[in-house]
Amino acid sequence: MSSKHLLTRIRTLVRPGLQCPLFKNGCRNPSFLHELQTRDYSDVPQQIPAAPASNPLPVANSRSKSSLKPAEIKKFAAMAETWWDAEGPFKPLHVMNPTRLAFIRSTLCRHFGKDPLCARPFKGLKFVDVGCGGGILSEPLARMGATVTGIDAVKKNIKIAQLHADSDPVTSSIDYCCTTAEKLVEEQRKFDAVIALEVIEHVADPAEFCKSLSALTSSGGATLISTINRSMRAYATAIIMAEYVLHWLPRGTHQWSSFLTPEELVLILERASISVKEMAGFVYDPLTGQWSISDDISVNFIAYGTKNSE
Ligand SMILES: C[S@@+](CC[C@H](N)C(=O)[O-])C[C@H]1O[C@@H](n2cnc3c(N)ncnc32)[C@H](O)[C@@H]1O
Repeated sequence: MSSKHLLTRIRTLVRPGLQCPLFKNGCRNPSFLHELQTRDYSDVPQQIPAAPASNPLPVANSRSKSSLKPAEIKKFAAMAETWWDAEGPFKPLHVMNPTRLAFIRSTLCRHFGKDPLCARPFKGLKFVDVGCGGGILSEPLARMGATVTGIDAVKKNIKIAQLHADSDPVTSSIDYCCTTAEKLVEEQRKFDAVIALEVIEHVADPAEFCKSLSALTSSGGATLISTINRSMRAYATAIIMAEYVLHWLPRGTHQWSSFLTPEELVLILERASISVKEMAGFVYDPLTGQWSISDDISVNFIAYGTKNSE
């Protein structure tokens, strides 16, 4: 795809009817886009990392590259017990949850031809929540009727998620498992919707990770990925403000160089046979303390795509 075509594609993907400030005045220069298309992610570890002894992780075989980044796994294992502390390090995800669920409900109801106003619109559909953490997304998806599999590379996260889900008969049906997307691909698992929110910035190779997400998506199914843009605004807000000024997150939670721009995410998804249909931003209003869906994809954003038929 040429730089011009890519830019035009992204413009049309941002939520219909909304204008994306990122592209106002044509702020992207062509050589920058050229770099995006030729980026090979050689700055991230490509070899299969060894599993830390304390967390017996599934080791990928030679056919699939592991998505695991040992330092990230260690970091999330250390925070596992705080998943359901609404005032803890995962507070931003708790506060953002209703907004991202609104986007998921709206796009997936449209995708699967379901009534968004019914109580359990996802009844009969199989979803996988990749990198589910303590289950703060898996649980509401199960309440909306989906048959949910929640997977995470951190064993402690899965224990916490299971424990929490067991307190409610509806969520106790969630199938939690300590594994990775590439491992599920080896098992030839397929899902109607594959959802990976705030995970891709923590994996070893985003392009390979997207290939696994694509392989897990049934033909005609949907894939949703949210992450943080590699923009200066994201550096200022998601790292400096969130980690150093407001102390919402422990320092070092995010590495700016691991973020992907919307252009990069669209490219790697398209190369993985996922056709991106829509993108939206999530913006935080410091006055109300609330998040909302926006056309502004300069910091937090989500992409929804469909699996091309095989
Ligand atoms: C920022 S949290 C997001 C959790 C959840 N998706 C949400 O948005 O509420 C990232 C999660 O991804 C998990 N993770 C990191 N690398 C992973 C990998 N390669 N495969 C599966 N899970 C991974 C971490 O253990 C952590 O729980």
